[in-house]
This record gives sequence, C-alpha cells and structure tokens, in this order.
Amino acid sequence: GDTMTLLKVDNSLYPPFSADVINGLTSLEIREDDIIICAYPKAGTHWVWEISRCLLAGTTTLPLVEKDNNMIECVPSATLDALPSPRILNTHLTFDQLPAEIRQKRCQIIYINRNPKDLAVSCYHHHRKLTDFYQYEGSWENFLPLFMDGKLDYGSWFAYVTDWERVVRENPGLPIHVMAYEDLKQDPVQQIAGLGKFLGQEVSEQFATSVADKCSFVNMKSRKGQFETGSDGEPIMYRKGEVGDWTNWFTVLQNEAMDGYLRQHLAESSLKFKYTLGSDLM
Ligand code: A3P
Repeated sequence: GDTMTLLKVDNSLYPPFSADVINGLTSLEIREDDIIICAYPKAGTHWVWEISRCLLAGTTTLPLVEKDNNMIECVPSATLDALPSPRILNTHLTFDQLPAEIRQKRCQIIYINRNPKDLAVSCYHHHRKLTDFYQYEGSWENFLPLFMDGKLDYGSWFAYVTDWERVVRENPGLPIHVMAYEDLKQDPVQQIAGLGKFLGQEVSEQFATSVADKCSFVNMKSRKGQFETGSDGEPIMYRKGEVGDWTNWFTVLQNEAMDGYLRQHLAESSLKFKYTLGSDLM
C-alpha cells in the first residue's frame, strides 16, 4: 500500500538494509586511494560510477560489473575489503555520517546534484519497482509529499543538498568534485574531461568522447540493465535518463507546492538547478 518498509538507525532512515552494516561503518577500513561517490539516491550515481571506472582504467573495454558491491552502507565490510584498489565506493550518507577515515585520509569525493523534480520522479519509480524490497505500491500523488517531507530512506533531499553545500563551502581544502546530472547530460565530453582531471588522469578529447558514448544512457541500459529488474521486469537503475521528465508527472499544483518548498528550504542556499536543458535556472 502507501506505506513502505524502511530501516531506522540513530534516527536516520535507510532502505531495509542491515543495521549491523550501518552500525559497523565507523570501523570500515578506508584506503587513501579510495574514491567516494556521494549523492542523494537517483542523482546519477550509476552513471558517474561507470564513467569513473573507465577514466581510472584508461579504457572503455572493461568487464561488465554492476556497482552494487561498492555501496558502503549496503554491503558487509568483508565484501568491501575484498575489492581491489583503487576502489570506487558510493554512498548516500551525509558527510558527517561518513566513516571518519574518509575525512582523515582525505579521500577524493565526487558529489553529484540533480534537480529535485526529476529526482523525485526517479525516486518514485525506484521505490515502486523494488516492490518486494520496500513493500511499496503507492501512487505518485501520495509519494510526492513523502519526498517533500523527507519521509523516505536517507531523509530529506532538501536537508541533504544544503548540508553538502555547507560542507563544500566550509572545507575548500578537501578534494570534493561537484557535478550536476544536467551538466553531464548536456555536455558529457567536457564534464568527463573535468572529472578525469580531478582524478589525476590525462584525458584526450577522443577518449572522453568514447567514455561518453560507452556510458550513454542507451548503452548502459542495454549493457547493464538486466542486472537489476523490478517487479515489472524493467531495469530499475536505467529508466528514462532524461532532463525534464518531471513535466510528465507534476501537476500544476504539485509543481507550485514543490517550488514553495524550494523557496522555503533553500532560502539561504545558492544552489541552482537546471530543470530542462534550455536555460531556465532556478
Ligand atoms: P531516471 O529514473 O530519471 O531515468 P542512480 O544511479 O543515482 O540510482 O540514478 C538513477 C537515475 O539515473 C535514473 O534516472 C537513471 O535512468 C539515470 N541514469 C542511469 N544511467 C544513466 C546514463 N548513462 N545517462 C543518463 N542517465 C542515467
């Protein structure tokens, strides 16, 4: 029905993972060359993970693996310990929730933003497709208030993004590379080259172009889509891959409500999001 199964640990909401794994994160072994992709769910982690993997390897010809064994709050530490270096880990935790060693060892962090309207729609489908996992079958109309009020795994998107904005502002010396889903969609070659530079790689335009192509939505969906399929048989992590799909879901009233929340919760923020690949910024 309209409720979903979530896990609560220390007053934070998670997907129904293992509380032991989450509680064990403080003692997770972190390596200096770990790269950590941080983002609220559905901001584009799979995409950036695959791109980063190609960049580090210097090739687009890699064995096919899904990123799931790399999510620190999801898999047992033994699985993470077994991954070869350099590891590209990912998480939806806030900066303060991260294992302290990530900060102490000054690991490189890639942080991804995505506009909240497309993200909310993507989040809805994520929860719906993982029917058995979340025990959730609610409607879009009833889901949106949950998103806006932070009654989902990982809590409020508004709190999450403003917290990361603060972290980036307060820690100019930390290696944090901020990306936006929309920019990557609009100009993948340039964004991939920029990410490569952050990761310390020489990236020719030709190589960036081939990474962009290998990691395009269509190519990733066909190569990796069948790793995880939902109750409808469709890939869960590769749904539409567009900027602006929200216009097919939000009613005028829902859009006004969302804009109101954005004005309220992002009043102090200088975050800007692209809602289409035109030029309308907010
Ligand atoms: P949609 O549901 O809007 O299609 P995450 O990886 O953080 O779970 O995010 C999933 C979202 O990223 C989904 O958004 C998915 O389709 C999109 N996505 C995955 N791979 C992509 C790619 N190669 N290019 C563009 N979007 C991609």
